[in-house]
Amino acid sequence: MRVFLILLCLFFLSPNIFSIEPAEYFTKKCMSCHTVGQGDDVGPDLKGITKRRDKKWLIRFIQESQSMIEEGDPVSNQLFEKYKRKKMPDQELDDDEVEELLAYIESGKVKDAVANMRSALDANPFEIQKGMELFTGKLKLSKGGPSCISCHEAGNLGVLGGGSLGPDLTNAYSSYNDKGLSKVITKINFPTMVKVYKKRGLTEEEAFQIKSFLWTTDRQEKEDHGNQKKFFFLGLIGFLLALGALDLLWKKRTKKSRRQQ
Ligand code: HEC
Ligand code: HEC
Repeated sequence: MRVFLILLCLFFLSPNIFSIEPAEYFTKKCMSCHTVGQGDDVGPDLKGITKRRDKKWLIRFIQESQSMIEEGDPVSNQLFEKYKRKKMPDQELDDDEVEELLAYIESGKVKDAVANMRSALDANPFEIQKGMELFTGKLKLSKGGPSCISCHEAGNLGVLGGGSLGPDLTNAYSSYNDKGLSKVITKINFPTMVKVYKKRGLTEEEAFQIKSFLWTTDRQEKEDHGNQKKFFFLGLIGFLLALGALDLLWKKRTKKSRRQQ
């Protein structure tokens, strides 16, 4: 009985215990078919959705669009035809949960979540360029944090006089991996950095761009290193060949001199 009471208390003390985490839910269950502000996908772009449609309609549509289509709801049927009669899966969410999800969609944070999931390998040159400019301070960070170069060098940027309070970040990408580096940059944990970024962290989009820039410094360095290795091996092979030739010559000569004896 006591255990039951404790559980009951816990239940009432944590009203969120069964509620969804909207960002995670959206990423897992909606993002494969919808964008927010990036154009139509399998389903319509959801930007401005709460202004475009009645709230009651939206909640029900997300819960059971198929039934609405079958009942002959005109808007649902229009959409269904427009989007090639693709069925949107029903969501087992209660009204409050759908409202939370809609609030998240309206918050404009979806773009950040997408950036957080993207690998630097998908970055386009424009994003990499932006990452470099954020790193060097040519572009200001949106929340006003200092640029990375005041404490770090990376790639050839050292020439521009990067700070040396923090470690060289040329190879940070391969030491932390793609996801790891995103985390390091967005959820800043290093004591020295916490001090300056505490209330002025990076947006996920900025973090993505900087990560992508650091991917290029890492790759560039690896290539240079690879080339050095190549030259080293070429040199070594040349050296061995020369050694082999000398050896042959030497053998011939000793054979000759033996025959002569
Ligand atoms: C398998 C693809 C798919 C998934 C996953 C999906 N949808 Fe849809 N969605 C669609 C399609 C297609 C339509 C257009 C209507 C139709 O064909 O039924 C649509 C329509 C909508 C509409 C109406 C848009 C408008 O312009 O009125 C909303 C709102 C919506 N989806 C929200 C969501 C949410 C929120 C999720 C995640 C919980 C989700 N969808 C998951 C495919 C999908
Ligand atoms: C005020 C100086 C300062 C600024 C500005 C700064 N950092 Fe740092 N950073 C450090 C220091 C110092 C460390 C080493 C860990 C520590 O002692 O806090 C570090 C560590 C790191 C590491 C881990 C490196 C490793 O080798 O483990 C990464 C990645 C990093 N910083 C990225 C960034 C990025 C990206 C920016 C710009 C958005 C940035 N830092 C801005 C001082 C700074």
